[in-house]
Amino acid sequence: MTDQRANRSRRQFLAASTAGLAAASHAIAQGGATEPAAAAQPTRSGGKLPVKSISSANGLRTTRRAYEMMLRGADTLDASVAGVTIVEDDPRDTSVGYGGLPNELGVVQLDAAVMHGPTHQAGCVASLERIRNPAKVAQLVLQQTDHVLLVGPGALKFAKAHGFKEEDLLTDRARKIWLRWKQTMSDRDDWLPPAEGIEESDPQAAAILRNRPTGTIHCASMNAEGDISCVTTTSGLAFKIDGRVGDSPIIGAGLYVDNEIGSCGSTGRGEANLQNQCSFAAVELMRSGMTPVEAGLEVLRRVAKHTVPRLRNDQGEPDFGLKFYLLRKDGMHGGVSMRGPTKFAVTDEKGTRLETCTTLY
Ligand code: GLY
Repeated sequence: MTDQRANRSRRQFLAASTAGLAAASHAIAQGGATEPAAAAQPTRSGGKLPVKSISSANGLRTTRRAYEMMLRGADTLDASVAGVTIVEDDPRDTSVGYGGLPNELGVVQLDAAVMHGPTHQAGCVASLERIRNPAKVAQLVLQQTDHVLLVGPGALKFAKAHGFKEEDLLTDRARKIWLRWKQTMSDRDDWLPPAEGIEESDPQAAAILRNRPTGTIHCASMNAEGDISCVTTTSGLAFKIDGRVGDSPIIGAGLYVDNEIGSCGSTGRGEANLQNQCSFAAVELMRSGMTPVEAGLEVLRRVAKHTVPRLRNDQGEPDFGLKFYLLRKDGMHGGVSMRGPTKFAVTDEKGTRLETCTTLY
């Protein structure tokens, strides 16, 4: 294909995908849509392998941005970070960045990590306050320090030294959800709930209050040369203990890439990933010849086996959510989930869409 034809094809792809994608992305940010986005026109990369970006279900805009950037020659980590930045900036997503749900004290504390396949370098930040884009800060830890992980006030000082602006990340909606949680948590303290809470007018808030979420975004991207990078960014478990750090900023738990094999990243109960080194384990299982879905399911089985009784339901199954997003060096991808139904986002030459995760239960 000539450059001119490739450019025309890319413009067609972008135009075709924009309308359906905008509608689906909005619905996902509201916690609703499960249908695939409108199929886009196919396009082709000039390289040998399929250019591809995958993400959690809140990442339709993310994978599209990363894919577009890779077609223009961007590095796979730059593309992935630019993709998740869209969601970090979106106050409608209460699991990530600005507008994320706070800890038990009402303070938003963010975790993020990046891993660059071609150099096998990583950067991470944990318990970062007042900076809306922790993934970008994590990338700077990778690029401009001799370290891998910065936490809390030190991470904030590092971000400010690099020009990041401090701001209050707690939106009014997130504050109201947190306040309702605090007021209804116990009838043995002095916080009394008003007669009508936010859950009366906001169905997503009601779901959050019923089941504290560990929503997060993960994105992994592969270019035509087969280089793979990934990023995970989150506000962590809603109403967590001050200082609690989940899996997202921990390499091997919330994400991992081996450029010769593939990548895995996760959303869901971070403690399970920390206890089982899930992302690392999944990549190693792909090294042994498993497909992405086989590897993800095997890691979910290990998590289930190691789950303590208090976290099991009446059937003895883990009662928490856990998902893995896997990308193998040959371009094969998959999403798996402890239970369904659930989706994940993909952009490749077939367009941008939600695909269905394979479930263990
Ligand atoms: N997986 C996100 C968290 O547990 O913090």
